[in-house]
Amino acid sequence: MYQREDFVAAADYIRARTALQPGIGLVLGSGLGPLADSLGGRVAIPVSEIPGWPQSTVQGHKGSLVIGEFEGQIVAAQQGRAHFYEGYSMQEVTFPIRVMKELGIHTVVLTNAAGGVNPSYTVGDIMLLEDHINFPGMAGQNPLIGPNDESMGLRFVGMSQTYDRGLRQAALAVARQHNIPLRSGVYFGLSGPFFETPAEIRMIRALGGDAVGMSTVNEVLVARHAGMRVMACSGITNGTIDAVDSDMEVNHEAVLEAGAIIVPRLTTILRGTLRDLQA
Ligand code: HPA
Repeated sequence: MYQREDFVAAADYIRARTALQPGIGLVLGSGLGPLADSLGGRVAIPVSEIPGWPQSTVQGHKGSLVIGEFEGQIVAAQQGRAHFYEGYSMQEVTFPIRVMKELGIHTVVLTNAAGGVNPSYTVGDIMLLEDHINFPGMAGQNPLIGPNDESMGLRFVGMSQTYDRGLRQAALAVARQHNIPLRSGVYFGLSGPFFETPAEIRMIRALGGDAVGMSTVNEVLVARHAGMRVMACSGITNGTIDAVDSDMEVNHEAVLEAGAIIVPRLTTILRGTLRDLQA
């Protein structure tokens, strides 16, 4: 279990590396790390140097925290993330979000690669999360379990206004302006690392999931616990398979390749959305 001092120590280390004071945290999922290349005057800190920071072992997850300017805002962009399926605890997976809070970050934008469950979604679409279903979390695997440090957040966290309405409306308006297909939907969070069976995909669809992935929901829980504003986007990197005897299979290479279509679209959406953001 971490203590608050652990998050403070990591934040102090980052502050000693740059005078830039980020107000926005950006988490870049599979294949989306290159978005950090758009930050001006950036300082990249290898996360292996930050005390306590979990390192991803997954291909396509570059391990740096990049701090720089983006549309007049100072952003801390985490390239790649650690996942529960790598063997990290829920507390480890969400360590970076706690550190962002200690750095003074007020708004977190999370991105991920996800499989499309809604039959109308196509590869390359972006889905703005309007809500989520945290399947492992509901069953007792989540980072808020354990003693609660009241100085960091409330014991019981309301989750009915999780994905900030103002940010969603701003993102939808930007996407319309630029003719980018931006969906709004429900992200179904699972632990992985296996992709879903056809029966699981049909179950997820029946339960109201539009896209499925292996990250994000835990970070969102912690960000809300810490009182941060949250926005999240899924890049739809693959269709999911809902019938047995299909010849298709989902694989990680396809997930990374689709990132190339998604990064420019996501960059445009985030530029427009963050441009006018007030603290
Ligand atoms: N399922 C779960 N996680 C994923 C997928 C998927 O199809 N694609 C990218 N991440």
